[in-house]
Amino acid sequence: MERTLSIIKPDGVARGLIGEVIKRFEDNNLKIVAMKMIYMTKAQAQGFYAVHKERPFFDSLTDFMSSGPVVVLILKGENAIAKNRELMGATNYKEAAEGTIRRDFATEIEKNIVHGSDSPGSADFEIGYFFNSFEIIC
Ligand code: CMP
Repeated sequence: MERTLSIIKPDGVARGLIGEVIKRFEDNNLKIVAMKMIYMTKAQAQGFYAVHKERPFFDSLTDFMSSGPVVVLILKGENAIAKNRELMGATNYKEAAEGTIRRDFATEIEKNIVHGSDSPGSADFEIGYFFNSFEIIC
């Protein structure tokens, strides 16, 4: 069993896609063990995406992620990290496989509806960034 962090980004929330995204997780054996809606400050978004701070899109990305509410979730299941990434599709929605969340709903590389941890190390960091132990169902 593995855990991963998912974020339904401001575009996904604003477009009424929370239920659609969660249904895909639940239909694919990813169990929600923590979930909340938050509205990040720019500084909180910068802290979350610190790994990308040298990238040219960092400023725009953190502006976007602090532009509206997001839903953060912890998903648990067998190979949860890879499974979630498979359901999301490629970062660039134009390269995402048919039937993936990004292929079906994303409109830009930045406005790509969802985020998901890319490794066990980043999952640990990202889960700890948003949740304390009392908020996670075990
Ligand atoms: P995410 O999985 O949240 O991780 C970093 C995010 O940066 C990525 O999804 C995209 O939304 C965003 N981003 C914006 N521009 C780019 C780019 N050129 N390459 C990769 N990610 C980008």
